Amino acid sequence: MMNRLKIKEQLLEHDTISYAMDHIELPKGGIDCSEGCNPYGFPPECAEVLKNFDPARMGPYPHSDALYDAIAEFWKDQINVERDNILLTDGSINALYIINNIFDTHHAVVLGISPQFTDYYMHAEMTGLGYAPYQLKRENNYKFDGYEFLAMHYVADKFAEVSVPQREYNFIYIDNPNNPTGQCIDIEEIENIIKAARKHDITVIIDEAYGDFMPMENSAVRLFAEYPNLAVVRTLSKGYGLAGMRIGYIIAHKNLIACMKKMTNPYMVGELAREVGAEALRHREFIESCKADFAEMKNEIREVLTPSIYKKFTNEKGVEVVKKKRGPASGRLHMSETLDTNSLLLLYHDNPGINLKEEFYKRGVLVIDGYDFKGLDSSAARIRLPIKEEFPVLLDAITEINKLD
Ligand SMILES: Cc1ncc(COP(=O)(O)O)c(C=O)c1O
Repeated sequence: MMNRLKIKEQLLEHDTISYAMDHIELPKGGIDCSEGCNPYGFPPECAEVLKNFDPARMGPYPHSDALYDAIAEFWKDQINVERDNILLTDGSINALYIINNIFDTHHAVVLGISPQFTDYYMHAEMTGLGYAPYQLKRENNYKFDGYEFLAMHYVADKFAEVSVPQREYNFIYIDNPNNPTGQCIDIEEIENIIKAARKHDITVIIDEAYGDFMPMENSAVRLFAEYPNLAVVRTLSKGYGLAGMRIGYIIAHKNLIACMKKMTNPYMVGELAREVGAEALRHREFIESCKADFAEMKNEIREVLTPSIYKKFTNEKGVEVVKKKRGPASGRLHMSETLDTNSLLLLYHDNPGINLKEEFYKRGVLVIDGYDFKGLDSSAARIRLPIKEEFPVLLDAITEINKLD
């Protein structure tokens, strides 16, 4: 019936393509650990910009250079970024949608990682692209292995786990840090992938939505001038806490940016958002303090799940020293490979029948169900750390769920 309208078949197959919610329904008196925004909000100086904004600027189309200049300034210690290397986008999700639309979809396949940001690959499938993920393995604590990725998936062209005959990879999509695990792939590994991809004329998309939580030196932005087959996606939604302003951007070679510009609305990111975003990027100290808190919280979670063992011994000088090492799992809940300074983490339980989202909900914590990610099920859950004051609610829930059979 519907398809008399000749709507793409794949759009009719799914009810939704995202775990994003219209409304957040918190457990009564509970806390939100579901949305990927920054629980600490944004640099306070942004509120001043808002107060001083001249409403007359709402009238014309947005032409402010403020955000372009702030982006160039932000990266200047790492690499020189010119204006024609930047495309401003309404949030980074929009950047990804634009990217998916510049490639020829005929028999094309995106090589990804599983699990990773659901909205990306679902959109790729909606545009008609195939999606072939490299599966992170539970037995390896979901740690990404760049060597295996390269060997299995396109250098040797051996498809150990997915079979996509007669198709070629048009591009590779990697979220770094990864959503949901929060892990960070070293820039050397990323560069090896980009280098190998270039030999096969494959474009690599590095989505650094959570990139502000890793060291700047680990950003693929540093590589864009050397690799015309690279596009790096960034956002101010996560680290800089401006998800409500919808500010994202792409950094790439100017030829790639020029192609993307032909597939987009010419007026992305409103005038006010450009000013607020520019101010945010001047306050890296804000992110540093968030990172320190997240690292402390992850450490406390680790202490619950794999308590430290202290070993006393006498060294060669006859002095008694105490050595600390990670002990075995104290229960049945585990934290995947993750970057401690990142707000995201993935927990998984040994009991395949458990529904972790429900268990957290009962204990006052809203999380994202692992089932919402390809390659995971409901015995896993993605958690975005809360502010420190709310952390005891999460830690108590983790402590209890760890003891469940
Ligand atoms: C890996 C990743 N990329 C991109 C996005 C999109 O974020 P935004 O559109 O707010 O920039 C998200 C949001 O959840 C994400 O997790």
